Parts: sequence; C-alpha cells; structure tokens
Amino acid sequence: MSDRDAHVRRAVEVLRAGGLVAFPTETVYGLGADASNPAALRRLYAVKGRPEEHPVIVHLARADQLDDFAAEVPEVARRLARAFWPGPLTLVVRRATSVPDEATGGLDTVGLRVPAHPLALQLLDAFGGGLAAPSANRFGHVSPTTADAVRAELGDDVDLVLDGGPCRVGVESTIVDCSSDAPRVLREGGISRERLRALLGYEVPVGGPTRAPGTLAAHYAPRAPVELADAGALAARIDELRGAGRRVGVLALASDLPAGLARSGAQDAALRTEREGHQPTIVTLATPVDVDEYARDLYSALRSADDLGMDVVLAVAPPPEGIGAAVADRLRRAAASR
Ligand code: TXA
Ligand code: MG
Repeated sequence: MSDRDAHVRRAVEVLRAGGLVAFPTETVYGLGADASNPAALRRLYAVKGRPEEHPVIVHLARADQLDDFAAEVPEVARRLARAFWPGPLTLVVRRATSVPDEATGGLDTVGLRVPAHPLALQLLDAFGGGLAAPSANRFGHVSPTTADAVRAELGDDVDLVLDGGPCRVGVESTIVDCSSDAPRVLREGGISRERLRALLGYEVPVGGPTRAPGTLAAHYAPRAPVELADAGALAARIDELRGAGRRVGVLALASDLPAGLARSGAQDAALRTEREGHQPTIVTLATPVDVDEYARDLYSALRSADDLGMDVVLAVAPPPEGIGAAVADRLRRAAASR
C-alpha cells in the first residue's frame, strides 16, 4: 500500500469514528465530517466557531449520488452538474429527508459539490457517503490553501490533515441556488458567470433571498485591516501610510504595481527581516500576472501579511472578469471586516 493509500485509509477510520479530517480540494482545504453523523457535525461547528444556522456544503464522490441527497433535482441542476463536476461549483437543491438538520442549518435545501482534486475524490470514494466540509478556517477568517495553513489555523482541533499540496483554484466554489424557479448565484467563485452563461445561454443573476454566510458583508479577513485602492492612487496611498509609520502589505496585479515595487515579495521580506534584524515597512505580498494567478495567491498573500506582522493590506482588486469577480468579492468582504 502506498503512503497515500495508507493516509486515506486512516482518514476514513477517523471519519467513521466521528472525527474531523482536513482535506485538499481544487478551491481551498475543507474540514470534513461524516454528513450523516449529527454529533460529528456539531463538533465541526464548534471547531469552526460557526453559528449553527449556517449550512455546510456536502461533498460527494460522483454526480450520480445527487439523488441520494436531493429530494428533487431540477433539469438545470443536472446540466450544471454534467458540465462542471468534478469542479468548483456547489448546487443548492431541496434536500432528501435523510440529510440531517445539522448539515443544513435547518434549511429545507442542501448544498452539494463534487470537488476536482484526486486526493479528495479518493477519500470520498473510500468513505462512500457524503462529507460535510466547510473551508478549514475559523469562522470569518481567511480560507487555507495549503496543509500548513490548515495546521496553523486549527492546530490540534483537527484529527488528521491530508496534504495534497497548494490548491489550484484558490477561491471557493461558485454556489448556484437551483431550489426555486430560476437559478441564482449565491456566491461567486471558481466557475465564472461567463462560463455559466455560455452553458445555459442566459445570464444567471447574482444574489437572492436565500441566506448564505459567505455572503455576509464581513468575511475572509486577515488580522491586518484590508484597504482597497484604485491602481492610479496606489503609489500615493503607500507613501501616505508609510509616512504615518504604518507597515504596508501590497496586493495587486503585477501590471497595477508602481514601478520598482514588483521585485520585493513576502519571501524576500521574511529573509530580509531575519538577516537585517528589522522589519520592512513595505512588502509586495504577491505579484500575480492575471486573474487566475490572483485567485490562486489571494489567501496565502493575506496570511503572509499576518505572518509578517504588517499593519495594513493595501489591495487593488483585479478586473471582475472570469474568476476576477470572485477575487474582487473576497477583497471587498475582507475590507468590510474592519
Ligand atoms: O470551495 C468550496 O466551496 C469550499 C471547499 C472546501 O469545498 N467550501 C466552502 O465551504 O467554502 P464554506 O462552509 O466555507 O462555505 C459554504 C457556503 C456558505 O456560504 C453557506 O451559506 C453556503 O455555502 N451554503 C451551503 N449550503 C447552503 C444552502 N442549503 N443554501 C444556501 N447556502 C448554502
Ligand atoms: Mg468558508
């Protein structure tokens, strides 16, 4: 048996015993619990510090398990599942009676997703049932995109962490509510609105009457306050903040950075601090060249701002095209957390 198989086997034992296993997905790391075990779900909520009326996403190994968890699957949900599963899309549908209240926050709907990560799929396949898995961070904080970030975030509160390397997408799944007449996007994420439109032939509206905690104004926040700036005003605002003695972490597309800034980076800064014994007053937290890279680097950049003890994160949102819309959304919410 390979190491990987042995880890997965151990993870399944932990889950069957009601324990918590963090595992990688293509979006962010999830904190998994047996979706059919109310006691395990209660522990999951306690560890996250998550209000009990906030539903979690149930992860499945295969699209054909949809009917085991849904009372009713509208045609549009089947089309979306066929097109985008495994992938960064969560479908909200009416729940089957077998899904416990603890997984849905008492709602009559359930969020379902088949993740596109080989280790997640191997785990789900070996486990057999559904795994309730919110992002593996404390409530309101930055989602983890590496196994180390999960350990730093949750410590001994997680029974086992499966390490699948850094997440490829970097922001959470797109949530589409298919439980009422017309589909609606409840959270922007890894599947862009352009891709939804290309498949369905019409624009899926964002927002809706259904509540989702990911849509709270304040969320996804590091300790350092996040401030948004326009690219044109960035250089002046950096000078202002540094002039006021603030240590500034900058996050922007490489093309939006003032000349000369692009070369410093979070890793350089950590090295310099060690070597020179004093902390830099400005750090470029990441230098993504496009919106996909911005999404992939976003959460680790926000985490490194805290690790480096920056006083403020000054961010320029990317254009809201493709996954850039989800990045801009997360930055707005992080900024609203101040
Ligand atoms: O990419 C992702 O979706 C990651 C990975 C681990 O799969 N998971 C994730 O879970 O982001 P979490 O718990 O951090 O966010 C789940 C979001 C919440 O905003 C929740 O309100 C919404 O999904 N949600 C879940 N079930 C729902 C339902 N029945 N109706 C409305 N919203 C729901
Ligand atoms: Mg989350």
